[in-house]
Amino acid sequence: MIDIRNIVFSYNVQPVLQDVCCRIDTGDFVALAGPNGSGKSTLIKCVNGILKPQSGTISVDGQPVAHYSPNAMARIIAYVPQSQRRQQATTVFDTVLMGRKPFISWKPATSDLDITADILRRLNIGHLSMKRTNELSGGQQQTVMIARALAQEPKILLLDEPTANLDIRHQLEVLELLKTLSQKGITILIAIHDINMAIRYASRIMMLKDGRIFAYGDKSVVTTENIENLYGIRADIIDQGEYLYIVPRGLPANKT
Ligand SMILES: Nc1ncnc2c1ncn2[C@@H]1O[C@H](COP(=O)(O)OP(=O)(O)OP(=O)(O)O)[C@@H](O)[C@H]1O
Ligand SMILES: [Mg+2]
Repeated sequence: MIDIRNIVFSYNVQPVLQDVCCRIDTGDFVALAGPNGSGKSTLIKCVNGILKPQSGTISVDGQPVAHYSPNAMARIIAYVPQSQRRQQATTVFDTVLMGRKPFISWKPATSDLDITADILRRLNIGHLSMKRTNELSGGQQQTVMIARALAQEPKILLLDEPTANLDIRHQLEVLELLKTLSQKGITILIAIHDINMAIRYASRIMMLKDGRIFAYGDKSVVTTENIENLYGIRADIIDQGEYLYIVPRGLPANKT
């Protein structure tokens, strides 16, 4: 469980997160949506302990994030950042195996190798195992970073736009896998721009606007009004029963 209480964060003077309060229950699959610059990545980095809020607290499983050692944190939370540093020339297998690091004392056990191989298979990148990561396409690199996070077998997965570089099939594969993990009790917080994918897969949608939570709840928070206010566009909602689709109509008349 993640408990975020009255978080204020600023990089310099202007606060980027302003009094953010929310609770993410165990096994929730939360999609974090909002315009560019609204604070999604910043919030994820605060949950992960990479950034320290100026005020407020974030607790994971009842303990403030600041109280966890880096290794204890890595055993609970895995994080896939929005932009990756330039990949080093290690193989895909070794990169994913690095996800096991918090559990390895001096050399990987057979179980670590098995977990790595299993994740490569589940993400359909087994055939890339011996390829060097700097020789992969952008989408393949992103899948490898997701695989590395999954190899950590975390209780909480933080993913910052993990599907941004993926084709539609790979987006579905990753989101299906995340949904299965959340159904097994893993808590997922994912920043995602594709609101239709968010509605389809997440159990809850958190809308962030100007560093504040604008709306948070199940797909009923996805209303034309909320979408228009959040993004400053005109939109229609098509309800097909099983799925709900946002179709942008365009910019407001005074912007066109
Ligand atoms: N390292 C930094 N130093 C100073 N300001 C920053 C830094 N990182 C982000 N910001 C600012 O903080 C605000 C929130 O940025 P953040 O990256 O959290 O937004 P975001 O919602 O993830 O956006 P995007 O959808 O573009 O990824 C922006 O105004 C941004 O310019
Ligand atoms: Mg971001």
